[in-house]
Amino acid sequence: MKITTLTHETVDQSLAHIDQFAIDVLTGLCSKPKNIPAKYFYDDIGSELFQKITQHTDYYPTRTEFEILDEIKNSLPEFIGESEIDIIELGAGDGHKTKLLIDGFLKNDYKVNFYPIDISEKAMLLLEKNIEPNSQLSVHGIVAEYFAGLRYARSQSKNRQLVLFLGSNIGNFNLAQNQGFLRRLWKALNSGDFTLIGFDLKKDVSKFLSAYNDSAGHTKEFNLNLLRRINNELGGQFDINKFQHFGTYNPKLGAMESYLLSNEDQEVYIKELQRSFHFQAYEPIHLEYSFKFLKTDVELLSKQAGFNVVNHFTDRNNYFVDSLWRVTKESGT
Ligand code: AVI
Repeated sequence: MKITTLTHETVDQSLAHIDQFAIDVLTGLCSKPKNIPAKYFYDDIGSELFQKITQHTDYYPTRTEFEILDEIKNSLPEFIGESEIDIIELGAGDGHKTKLLIDGFLKNDYKVNFYPIDISEKAMLLLEKNIEPNSQLSVHGIVAEYFAGLRYARSQSKNRQLVLFLGSNIGNFNLAQNQGFLRRLWKALNSGDFTLIGFDLKKDVSKFLSAYNDSAGHTKEFNLNLLRRINNELGGQFDINKFQHFGTYNPKLGAMESYLLSNEDQEVYIKELQRSFHFQAYEPIHLEYSFKFLKTDVELLSKQAGFNVVNHFTDRNNYFVDSLWRVTKESGT
């Protein structure tokens, strides 16, 4: 499998990344309430912790989506109606869900060119173990942020494209980011191309609470890893034991919210920022939203961005939907 890395190719880019992290931490810790942007979850350790979350029984989304993809793997190729397809996956992770879809296309006599995109090089190496190229399947991994990777993949691709954005990753954006992301995706694609997007549906709140407060403590470690990152990369002096994980559902927003709470009144020095930050007892640091959707929300988002819903694929409990959309553009491709 070929792997192209578009992140931190030079020392300068790597330093720019650290600078950006420092600026975002400074901005976040000076805000009220304090926050750390969720995009910093996914360093190699964070990606590994996220894999653990997805394998835990309390975290239903991955398992449920796997069931859906297993169910639709043979019918999806018929919806697309081609003989060769370029599958581009945004945030591919270890690729175990996508393998199902790829096998479905191959079984239906498609030639498949797979371009997994992920910010984590470690995730790409795991994917390499899970998906082996053959005469009908080429695999070209791209270590990059979503749109840089998409631009690169599209420069290599010449067939009908199917962009996968699975796992309800879209739920980690707020509405404005969501709309911006989908419109950007629509703009990047040609008329007739497809996207398959995973959305976690609204359901009993108890399901959310156990999924985001798993009994093994993987989510807690995932959240605390952000403080560890600040310690390691920015010379932070966070005492990890002085913070606790708190995951709660906000029904007004329709989102799970993740926080770290300071267990006590404390000062934390961050060398790279040359300053200390004060945390009051039980003061929150907001880390992440995981928005939940109704099918009508999904339809509206699709329409607003310029797509047509081809089909909603759901599981028997209606916990999750993978929604297949087609790009429509007036002036053809
Ligand atoms: C990646 N994303 C869809 C996960 C979610 O469910 O929002 C991230 C996550 N955070 C805590 N658990 C899982």
